[in-house]
Amino acid sequence: MFEDLKPAPADKILALIGLYRADPRPDKVDLGVGVYKGRDGKTVVMRAVREAEKRLLQAQDTKTYLGLAGDTGFNTAMVKLAFGLGADMTRIRAAQAPGGSGALRLVAELLKRTRSDPTVWLSDPTWPNHMPVMRAAGLQIREYPYFDAASGAVRFDDMLAALRTASDGDVVMLHGCCHNPTGANLDAAQWQAVTDLVVERGLLPFVDIAYQGFGDGLEADALGLRLLAAKVPEMVVASSCSKNFAVYRDRVGAAMILAKDGGQADVAMSQMLSAARAMYSMPPDHGAAAVRIVLEDDALRADWEAELEEMRLRMLRLRVQFAEALRRQSNSDRFDFVASHRGMFSRLGLTEAQVERLRVEHGVYMVGDSRINVAGLPEDRMDELAKAIVSVLD
Ligand SMILES: Cc1ncc(COP(=O)(O)O)c(C=O)c1O
Repeated sequence: MFEDLKPAPADKILALIGLYRADPRPDKVDLGVGVYKGRDGKTVVMRAVREAEKRLLQAQDTKTYLGLAGDTGFNTAMVKLAFGLGADMTRIRAAQAPGGSGALRLVAELLKRTRSDPTVWLSDPTWPNHMPVMRAAGLQIREYPYFDAASGAVRFDDMLAALRTASDGDVVMLHGCCHNPTGANLDAAQWQAVTDLVVERGLLPFVDIAYQGFGDGLEADALGLRLLAAKVPEMVVASSCSKNFAVYRDRVGAAMILAKDGGQADVAMSQMLSAARAMYSMPPDHGAAAVRIVLEDDALRADWEAELEEMRLRMLRLRVQFAEALRRQSNSDRFDFVASHRGMFSRLGLTEAQVERLRVEHGVYMVGDSRINVAGLPEDRMDELAKAIVSVLD
């Protein structure tokens, strides 16, 4: 049965982790894997989540099935987090999903079941898992230009020009905030322009929001999503708690539908849940239950928001320090964009060969497309790191 199988290509980021672990150099620097790390390089369990888990352990007296949509309190709290307190709950439905990836797949399966068998437009570049997940659901894929590597800016005019060629009923995937892998985001005026275009052309926005609270703050990071929600008749959202609640391995996410009216929302939800039933039946409970406890309890929520804000401000500080060190070491403003980017990632614009030299000659690990995890920047060795980067430029 298995003799004809060829090995699946290795995941580049996972392979990089292996190389990093095997590197004996004590001063090696890990800017690769996309997980938030504190100053000591550790990814901690957040205080409020730990407390919620304790409460859960004490209060939970059954582990019987919850249902296809998972924890309904969690789903409502996640909708409010994304769409805001004024969310039009009459037209929105949500299902708990196994992580943001599970939510993406669930929404993709729903889209596949619609009459138009739509094409999904992805930003170029985008998170490497977007394409496989959309393909696995059988959707057609097109790409729109997004990032100018030379300036570190969004190629906004090119993005709009490409999306103007999309057909009525096509789906546009947008990173809600903190674009992965570039860190380059749309500003409010650009979100407004995208919203106008989406309405004018009859496109369906599909917002992937995996870093809410990592960019400009919990509310500010949802600005684009909310601008869209106020104007479009329909949209879909995949959200993840992996990063902002640091519950990576517990697999916590939500798939959301905003429909034209409550009746259509119910039908779409029933199709999404039937897709869930065929894939994994019901989502894992633990992490989502802990997140729900945090979001529903004023004190725990305040503590979670405070800790998240510390993480966000730390990443912003590191961005500024790194951009300043690069300016000193390169005597140029080439890397200034790092300070204005938001979220956990920036793409430095180095070639694969330069990235490889950084790894081999300096023990600096980043993804081959020169994406760095800002949370991994070494606070006390910024100039040393900047010097190493500048040394491979020629
Ligand atoms: C853009 C984007 N979307 C979704 C996800 C989903 O992550 P998870 O499935 O771990 O929740 C990630 C994680 O890296 C991401 O970067």
